[in-house]
Amino acid sequence: MKNKCPFLCLLSFIAQFYFSAANTIQDIARIQFSPNYIHDLLEGQNVTVNVRIRFDSDEFFNSEFYNKPFKVSVKTLHNEVATSDIEIIGIDPIDLKVVNESLEYNFNTTIDTHFMGKTALQVRLISGDSISKSGGDLITLMELSTDDERQDFGSELKPIKGASRMDLWVIREKDYNIHEAIFVAVLVFLITIANFLMGCEIFKNGIHI
Ligand SMILES: *[C@@H]1O[C@H](CO)[C@@H](O)[C@H](O)[C@H]1NC(C)=O
Ligand SMILES: *[C@@H]1O[C@H](CO)[C@@H](O)[C@H](O)[C@H]1NC(C)=O
Ligand SMILES: *[C@@H]1O[C@H](CO)[C@@H](O)[C@H](O)[C@H]1NC(C)=O
Repeated sequence: MKNKCPFLCLLSFIAQFYFSAANTIQDIARIQFSPNYIHDLLEGQNVTVNVRIRFDSDEFFNSEFYNKPFKVSVKTLHNEVATSDIEIIGIDPIDLKVVNESLEYNFNTTIDTHFMGKTALQVRLISGDSISKSGGDLITLMELSTDDERQDFGSELKPIKGASRMDLWVIREKDYNIHEAIFVAVLVFLITIANFLMGCEIFKNGIHI
């Protein structure tokens, strides 16, 4: 009995070490957004972003993810600012194209903007393993993809583990400034006239008394 405990402890220690050291498919992928960032989108616009997922062939073939399907989760961090038309893509190993020394997959996603603010487009790869380990249903998958920290409005884009992000800033259309300038000019003009007329009135009254 006394010997069992240290042995179990050692086993669980090794198991923990093994699982925390295990790579995710995200760690061996390089994700490239094109354009790299967008800082000048207008409210109500849409824009197409190309996402390129690349694996080093050798690294991929030698990894535990070789020949297994995986999923790509695509989302913006704030749905009120912008939304992407793709949420999840299932990728089969045969979908990967061989380009030079790499295996590649690329797709376009259309971003619709709604309200001014700073957000980011996030892409995360989820291996079939981590899906089946946790039950394999869509609910677990959604939990997997939403358990990350929420990015605050206006905060700088921090690199986070297990996902790739691209700046996505939505601004308000500027041409209301012209209307605003005309409005202010008219207001100033009216106030000047009013002051002038009021002055005349007082002057007239003064003369009378
Ligand atoms: C994207 O915006 C253009 C105009 O800027 C519009 O013609 C087009 O229909 C929009 N596409 C989508 C999918 O909303
Ligand atoms: C393949 O590699 C060569 C040399 O490294 C490079 O010039 C070429 O642009 C690459 N092709 C692609 C499609 O990336
Ligand atoms: C993405 O869009 C670009 C530009 O419209 C196009 O050249 C490219 O073929 C598209 N890629 C995919 C995978 O649809």
